[in-house]
Amino acid sequence: MKILNFGSLNIDYVYNVDHIIVSGETLSASDRNIFPGGKGLNQSVAFARAGANVWHAGNIGKEDGGILLDTLKENSINTDYLQQLDNAPSGHTVIQVDKTGLNCILVYGGANSLQTRENIDNTLKNFSANDYLILQNEINDISYIMEKAKSIGMKIILNPSPIDEDILALPLDYVDVFMVNEIEAAQLVDGDSDEELLDNFVKKYPDAHTVMTIGSRGAHYAYKDQREFHGIFDIKVVDSTAAGDTFTGYFIQTFAETNDAYEALRVASAASTLAVSRAGASTSIPYLEEVEQFLAEV
Ligand code: RIB
Repeated sequence: MKILNFGSLNIDYVYNVDHIIVSGETLSASDRNIFPGGKGLNQSVAFARAGANVWHAGNIGKEDGGILLDTLKENSINTDYLQQLDNAPSGHTVIQVDKTGLNCILVYGGANSLQTRENIDNTLKNFSANDYLILQNEINDISYIMEKAKSIGMKIILNPSPIDEDILALPLDYVDVFMVNEIEAAQLVDGDSDEELLDNFVKKYPDAHTVMTIGSRGAHYAYKDQREFHGIFDIKVVDSTAAGDTFTGYFIQTFAETNDAYEALRVASAASTLAVSRAGASTSIPYLEEVEQFLAEV
């Protein structure tokens, strides 16, 4: 089984602040760091560190994308379908992290928004039925990628993040696994409680698996009549950036290996717990040995 992640790559400019800045305010940051990130890249790194064979397709700027390419290579992620563009900068973000580890993120798409159908076709022809396609919502033409992948028979995993109205126009019936947080879930289906949201996902997408993270309360899994839940582990939060991306990579890889949704929730919860205890996006994602050690000790 091959994992193809058609996803974003961003250079994250991370500013440590006392509190998240409000409209009209000027605030001094106590520190600034530059990290490789992007929901796509982070999820590729999480998959790779969880033990998967990952191909990352996407775009970076030739001039400034070295940090992103190096990160993929350092994590043994295949870059055959990564394009380095002459005419665009890499995607980048401005991230504020407050003293409790919470963040807010401003994204500039840059090269991420310049995916072409020619590159999509050339990439997907190298994958086949039973390979997995992972998508987030930080690149253009996701709908076309989904149509092509479905025609090949690939399994489609969608993390509709950051969520916007365009998500509703996607062929969501093609999705095999939804990886959502509670806010994203509420935009895709109706529901006033976790249970209602999950039930309505199952009704609307009867063949899909749904994983819904609920922040500090834990994470749910729903598929037909089956429901699983795992709470979070206690740890001091340093930076919550990429916690969801870590969860996605670890959940899918563990589920693919074990077909055990509860075990996948447990491993993914441990991995994202370790991620929030460290600074940065992809830099905070733990290796499988660290996750196993953590689980052996809790
Ligand atoms: O999910 C975290 C990521 O979101 C950051 O790395 C940032 O690049 C944004 O895409």
